[in-house]
Amino acid sequence: MEALTPPPPPPSSSLSIRGLSITVYHSTLTSTTASVSSHFIANLLQSFPKPELRSEHVSEGFVDSLYQPRPSPHLHILVISTTGQGELNPDTSSIKPWLYSPHRVLPETTLWSVYAIGDKKYGDDYCKAGRIFYGKLMKCGGTRVGELGFGEGLKDSLTWLKKTLEGRLEFGEGSGRFEGRPSPYVVSECVEASTASPPPPSEFNDFSIVSNTRITPSDHWQDVRLISLTGSCSYKSGDVFRVLPKNSDEDVQAFLNVAGFDSSSFEGVWRVEVVSEFYCEGWGSNFTFMDLLKSKADLGYTGVTVETMRSLAGFVDVGEEGGEKHRKKLRSFCETESGYSLFKEYVRREKRSIIDVLADFDTVKLNSLDDVLRILTPIQPREYSIASAGQSKTIQLLVAFKEGTTAYGRNYIGLASKFWRAAAINDVVKGTTRAGSFEKVVECEKPAIFIGAGTGVAPLRSVIVGRARPNDDRLVFGCRNAEADYYFKDEWAASGIKVDVRCSRDQVRRIYVQDFVEKEGREIIAAHILGGGGVAIAGGASMAAAVQKEILEILGERIEGGKDMAKRLLNSLKRKGTFVVEAWT
Ligand SMILES: Cc1cc2nc3c(=O)[nH]c(=O)nc-3n(C[C@H](O)[C@H](O)[C@H](O)COP(=O)(O)OP(=O)(O)OC[C@H]3O[C@@H](n4cnc5c(N)ncnc54)[C@H](O)[C@@H]3O)c2cc1C
Ligand SMILES: Cc1cc2nc3c(=O)[nH]c(=O)nc-3n(C[C@H](O)[C@H](O)[C@H](O)COP(=O)(O)O)c2cc1C
Repeated sequence: MEALTPPPPPPSSSLSIRGLSITVYHSTLTSTTASVSSHFIANLLQSFPKPELRSEHVSEGFVDSLYQPRPSPHLHILVISTTGQGELNPDTSSIKPWLYSPHRVLPETTLWSVYAIGDKKYGDDYCKAGRIFYGKLMKCGGTRVGELGFGEGLKDSLTWLKKTLEGRLEFGEGSGRFEGRPSPYVVSECVEASTASPPPPSEFNDFSIVSNTRITPSDHWQDVRLISLTGSCSYKSGDVFRVLPKNSDEDVQAFLNVAGFDSSSFEGVWRVEVVSEFYCEGWGSNFTFMDLLKSKADLGYTGVTVETMRSLAGFVDVGEEGGEKHRKKLRSFCETESGYSLFKEYVRREKRSIIDVLADFDTVKLNSLDDVLRILTPIQPREYSIASAGQSKTIQLLVAFKEGTTAYGRNYIGLASKFWRAAAINDVVKGTTRAGSFEKVVECEKPAIFIGAGTGVAPLRSVIVGRARPNDDRLVFGCRNAEADYYFKDEWAASGIKVDVRCSRDQVRRIYVQDFVEKEGREIIAAHILGGGGVAIAGGASMAAAVQKEILEILGERIEGGKDMAKRLLNSLKRKGTFVVEAWT
């Protein structure tokens, strides 16, 4: 029987390398933690023997591994990112029962460290999921190694790892040369496309485009579309649509050109198995090379990670002129903190895709499908708050394209933005819906206040129309110009809802929704929240954090116990579901 009483907090351990084994776990939404985990592995490999080192996703096996009795210590390094409003990633759902149940004591041979990844724009929710894991492990005992680490992506992560294992493991100057290792995949050709078995069922269904209309003036800086779709699915007001965008034909062709293949390369239907002790992308089975390039692999700028650079270094032909230089450069991106800064400048800031990188590093030679898989990253679904009410026949989305010009004058457009731009009436897109977090606001008997900016008005519209109580509710909306991006202006006027709009650029001094909350809305919002009314905030993460900060100030001045009590009150309303924030960057 395992004891159920929590032990005293474990001390930071002294760690001996003798007999030690390590697993680096990560939980991810957009693959940042997977990159950090690979980075840790590549560096640990310099001083740590491979048989005792592995990397995995946080999943059911994780809890078993924590409680496994072992003759010698096993270190679990957790790399955890935060999503939603301080929430855990969906891929950790199977371990939630453990996280939220009474604390079972861990064996002393279970060593653990947590590195939390997040974005400071989320204010108090910064790295919250990592902190939840850390708190749980502190209560379960075992042996903590090092302090809780915090970071935004890869930056500083290696410094934390080195500090955590200081004096126990030696880290060399170079990377672990992960890229030179044997392929993690076994690629086997099944059959000709015409006789292949159908692909396994997917959570994504077919939706067809009913309309795709630009609603901002053509001379406005941003192209914003109202997109309507039909498909066999039901949804509730405030739910979220998840789309699986595809690459454009021109990008697929550009990839083929730069990688030195054509559409007839690697004919047939392929099955790919992962055979590695280190985490790798699961490409699944039964796809053709062209399916891979069109619908599976991210050929946009989100598809390049530092691990892509590490893999590319392994495919440089050093016999070619410039090859040595290219390999050194590619390795430098993933070996040091300064190299990572360069990576951020070259890839992230300049928004370079795998096509751009292969064009620059033309000594990279890819020969097999296996090589191609090792340098590509899967397309991640994009989420959109549904803008129409749950009872509607169609799903409406309000989509603002992510496009612009980089510091060095390169034009860019996001993967999903490009996909939506090309979407024509009757085109079929792969999508699904997921539950949103507004249910209790929809049901709230008392009036509700909605605060949002830009496309953040999408879920608010869905909930406002779904509640059908425009005379009780109030919308505080922020945009740039009343004539350009005051979305659904006529609809609000016709519905009778009270709208307080703040157009940031229609006067010399910029004003935002948070200014309304701070000034004119002060009394209204305080009385509303203290009277039990619902609140929904949606849009950019910075706006949502600024509005919440103002609300805390206002409540702090009015309730006993000040800001601390106000924080508690907001947290309890969030748990109840009557104060909801849906924000994205
Ligand atoms: C809950 C929620 C609701 C949203 N609602 C709306 C809405 O109503 N209207 C709207 O216009 N936008 C909305 N968004 C934002 C939307 O999901 C997209 O981020 C936006 O359309 C830009 O996508 P893109 O592919 O064009 O740009 P890209 O820059 O290609 O992608 C940006 C997004 O891709 C993901 N990403 C980041 N890095 C990586 C990576 N390394 N690999 C793979 N993916 C990565 C992230 O989700 C990031 O936000 C919402 C986001 C969330 C989370
Ligand atoms: C929809 C969404 C919500 C997020 N919410 C938070 C948050 O509440 N707190 C935080 O620190 N970071 C938050 N982030 C930032 C992510 O944690 C950060 O981008 C991280 O690098 C993602 O890692 P991953 O790609 O491995 O999931 C959020 C990101 C997104 C896209």
